[in-house]
Amino acid sequence: MNPPQAPVPPRRPIRSFVLREGRLTAGQARAYDELWPRFGAERASGEVLDLPALFGNERPVVLEIGFGNGESLATMAAAAPQRNFLGVEVHRPGIGHLLLETERRGLTNLRLLREDAQVLLAQGLAPASLAGVNLFFPDPWPKKRHHKRRILQPAFVERLARVVAPGGLFHAATDWEPYAEHMLTVLEAAGAIFENTAGPGRFAPGRGERPPTKFERRGERLGHRVRDLVYRRR
Ligand SMILES: C[S@@+](CC[C@H](N)C(=O)[O-])C[C@H]1O[C@@H](n2cnc3c(N)ncnc32)[C@H](O)[C@@H]1O
Repeated sequence: MNPPQAPVPPRRPIRSFVLREGRLTAGQARAYDELWPRFGAERASGEVLDLPALFGNERPVVLEIGFGNGESLATMAAAAPQRNFLGVEVHRPGIGHLLLETERRGLTNLRLLREDAQVLLAQGLAPASLAGVNLFFPDPWPKKRHHKRRILQPAFVERLARVVAPGGLFHAATDWEPYAEHMLTVLEAAGAIFENTAGPGRFAPGRGERPPTKFERRGERLGHRVRDLVYRRR
């Protein structure tokens, strides 16, 4: 089933992040000057990214949303040179950190975007243009009055369905049990477009190919249980 046109976020959207500018280290500031032209992607409002032009080849593209400091994204990109990786994040120091890591590891299959992933999904990607999407440890927004800020909602899943090619995987992980239950409920309700690779109503048996992330290690130190969810686009 082809989903209808993905909903465009309303004019004053409820954001899944609070922009904390944070200070850039001297290295991160240099990275913006010297490395952003090589590894950064710019997208004008309403523009649809030309992914083969961005990467200089037609290899499958995996998107990671909210990569934080990008350690796990750099590890995934290094482990799969036959794939391209696109990271989207709003936090400048995290992007600076990943720019440095991209250079240090000599990665050629990684590009970064600084924008709200919700907007990117809604208007910046061609239909079925992604081989996969990763959402690792999104902000859990634990307070009830903030639940509406959680990025994984039915409208987000509809936007995903538009851009993930049939057979492509959506992998989410969280260390916040109530968010894990929420993710499961929302994704199971989209069963006509996303098939749970672990079987209906089940969490994935483990992290699979996902490297551990910084936020995950923090959660584990606090004794949180980590849940992974892996769905295949029908
Ligand atoms: C809890 S952190 C997890 C970071 C990383 N994935 C990890 O596991 O270490 C969530 C990240 O998502 C980013 N984020 C939240 N909403 C976003 C959005 N709509 N678009 C892009 N990035 C977003 C935040 O800036 C933050 O860095």
